[in-house]
Amino acid sequence: MINTLNPLIFTKSKKNRQGFKLPEVEFQDIELNEFIPDNFLRKKNPNLPELTEFQVVRHYTNLSVKNHHVDKDFYPLGSCTMKYNPKINDYIAGLPGFSLLHPNQPLESVQGALKLYYELERMLIEITGFKAVSLQPSAGSQGEMVGLLLMKAYHRKKKNKDKSIIIIPETAHGTNPASVIMSGYQVRQVKSDNRGRVDIEHLNELVDDSVAGMMLTQPNTLGLFEDHIEKITSIIHSVDGLMYMDGANLNALVGIVKPDDMGFDIMHINLHKTFSTPHGGGGPGSGPVGVNEKLVDFLPFPTVEYDKKNKNYFLHYNKDSIGRIHSFFGNFGILVRAYVYILSLGNKGLKEVSTNAVLNANYLKYLLKDHYDVPFSDGTLHEFVISAVKQKKKGYKALVIAKKILDYGFHSPTVYFPINVEESIMIEPTETESRETIEKFADTLIQINKSIDMDDESLLEAPLNTPVRKLNETKANRELNVRWKDEVQS
Ligand SMILES: Cc1ncc(COP(=O)(O)O)c(C=O)c1O
Repeated sequence: MINTLNPLIFTKSKKNRQGFKLPEVEFQDIELNEFIPDNFLRKKNPNLPELTEFQVVRHYTNLSVKNHHVDKDFYPLGSCTMKYNPKINDYIAGLPGFSLLHPNQPLESVQGALKLYYELERMLIEITGFKAVSLQPSAGSQGEMVGLLLMKAYHRKKKNKDKSIIIIPETAHGTNPASVIMSGYQVRQVKSDNRGRVDIEHLNELVDDSVAGMMLTQPNTLGLFEDHIEKITSIIHSVDGLMYMDGANLNALVGIVKPDDMGFDIMHINLHKTFSTPHGGGGPGSGPVGVNEKLVDFLPFPTVEYDKKNKNYFLHYNKDSIGRIHSFFGNFGILVRAYVYILSLGNKGLKEVSTNAVLNANYLKYLLKDHYDVPFSDGTLHEFVISAVKQKKKGYKALVIAKKILDYGFHSPTVYFPINVEESIMIEPTETESRETIEKFADTLIQINKSIDMDDESLLEAPLNTPVRKLNETKANRELNVRWKDEVQS
């Protein structure tokens, strides 16, 4: 039977084809299995496809161009900061001194790696203004979870017994309420005002002594700066609640605003957005958490410290810590990339990242404003949300537009998020794109809008030019099956 998901590699398999040949083992008396428990030993060979090396290389090369990625073309996926990442960062992360380290090596033999770890923490402290940072969390969402556990530890220590509620805005990313529930708190949702920011009046109504804290994305998921931030933090602090900043949108602020100065107590940073690893695709990530002095003692252990006298780095286990939340040192390769990125840009370069990200988003919004509704437009930073309500009335909803964009060789923006904008299309061009790309993308959306005005029904069939046509997304979500099984080959 042919595996329709992955036809090339399995149908090309031929018995006894080999990609490599190792020399015969010379020392037959070495019993390799001696150290491996019997129940971990394979009883028979796995049924893997048999191919030559170049068939495998061609297979993956072909797959890589079938898929869309940042190295191929524009990827304006709102909330994901899919910017181009300099290849030098990958190269340095791949140097044997980093990539071949074993996490169980004695500390004396990994002093260079620990130095990088320690210095990256200091760089992020400088960028955020916080007192300390933990590099352990391996995603933004894991950072959220850690932040909420830190809140718990804080309230436990202060004997704030009745704290059970976390306030989050209706524009919040889905991971926020999920993290709240997973950490044993309950969600209370605050409405947005008519400017797309937190409704202060409603917030005042919601806050009481049961509030443990608030999670807020800054700038929010409409790409707007929460300009009442000082009022918001003082409301939450008045009941000894803690302010958590979802820092996934730091690309709009880096080098310009320090979250600590805005009154936040905790934040996560998505290194795999702002600091050089692409987000998305489920690849490895890193979501460091920064805190102010109220929470330093609770950060995950071990922390990496520097002994000035003996000039060496060592591990410290704080007794009030919430414990380890990731094996070893987090996703170390991502940390190396972030370190190189920050060092190579410096203060001036980081500031240019955010100013150019804001400039590009505002320029693209300007090009589109006469063709699509832009419901909350006042104060756009690094991304913005348009609405396809007008187009939907003509029979072409946001999803149809998103699918048609694929035919022009671009990735689509995020659709149907945030949920307080009907038929939302959330666009984040990032700072790395050229003026030509932004104008070409604007022309694409304008062209699609013209086709809608002409009632071009072929739009409903889109995409027409992609390697696979329109997929049944509901079925794919409910019955996801991406794993090849032996039987498929027989
Ligand atoms: C606003 C916001 N918060 C949190 C997250 C979660 O980050 P991660 O995907 O690294 O878990 C995302 C991810 O896209 C996000 O956009």
